[in-house]
Amino acid sequence: MQIWGVVNQKGGVGKTTTTVAIGGILAKQGQRVLMLDLDPQGSLTRYFGLSADDSDNTTASLFDEPSAVQIINSVRPTGEPDLSLIPGSAALSALERKKASTGGMGMAIARALRLIATEFDYVLLDSPPVLGLLMVNVLAASDRLMLPSQTEPLALEGLERMVRTLEMVKKSRGSAPPHLIVPTLHDKRTRAGKDCLNELRRRYPDSLWRGAVPVDTLLREASRQQISPAQINESSRGLDAYEQLLRDIAAGTECVETPDKPGAWMAV
Ligand SMILES: Nc1ncnc2c1ncn2[C@@H]1O[C@H](COP(=O)(O)OP(=O)(O)OP(=O)(O)O)[C@@H](O)[C@H]1O
Ligand SMILES: [Mg+2]
Repeated sequence: MQIWGVVNQKGGVGKTTTTVAIGGILAKQGQRVLMLDLDPQGSLTRYFGLSADDSDNTTASLFDEPSAVQIINSVRPTGEPDLSLIPGSAALSALERKKASTGGMGMAIARALRLIATEFDYVLLDSPPVLGLLMVNVLAASDRLMLPSQTEPLALEGLERMVRTLEMVKKSRGSAPPHLIVPTLHDKRTRAGKDCLNELRRRYPDSLWRGAVPVDTLLREASRQQISPAQINESSRGLDAYEQLLRDIAAGTECVETPDKPGAWMAV
């Protein structure tokens, strides 16, 4: 089982969209994918038309030391083969207040996922835009982190905060999962979009994905239809970008600068 966390302290940068897009593509390839909605807003849950109301079987229950059977019972189908999710709920925000100071809570998700390690090939964790107990759990459980970042000036500041957070985690724990910055909602026709992408390339050459996910209304249309982008029948530049991202990760060519290999920025 591989656990990928999708994080950024900045809101509205494409975390949930990236989770669903990647999840849908991997599932279509036959991987058994589980998505966890760890955002009290419940956007991922509502994306698939499920209710984010308080119920027993949500990601909040994962903090109560559940058994493997209890966890499996919380898993809901999305309607797409091999793609399932554990819904989030408003109970997550109460949990953030209640349990933030309780020792050992930072590893609750990692512990829960260990119990079902053979059931899924990939687990994708959709994080809220807040550095608190929930995001700390995502950072602790993940083998790899995706940092979606919109290519606009305000988003760069949010990204900078997130990268500093990861540096602090690395200092205090001795290690942090590898992270990949994924430019999203990129509009190559605007000056601000182009300048931002160049700035990202200048600042983060060794942790920035070499491509970018363009603004694509078909991604919004997929969310309106409550299907993952992989199920769209039309050609979609947004979906193509996420497919390329996964190919790059599989080939180890996602960044331009790695110690053993010179890469190249993609034309986007
Ligand atoms: N590449 C894209 N093209 C067009 N629309 C997009 C794209 N990526 C995301 N969106 C839209 O932008 C909005 C914000 O995206 P999303 O919900 O994925 O962000 P988020 O980071 O999860 O937000 P939050 O921090 O609130 O959880 C959504 O309406 C989504 O449909
Ligand atoms: Mg979200």
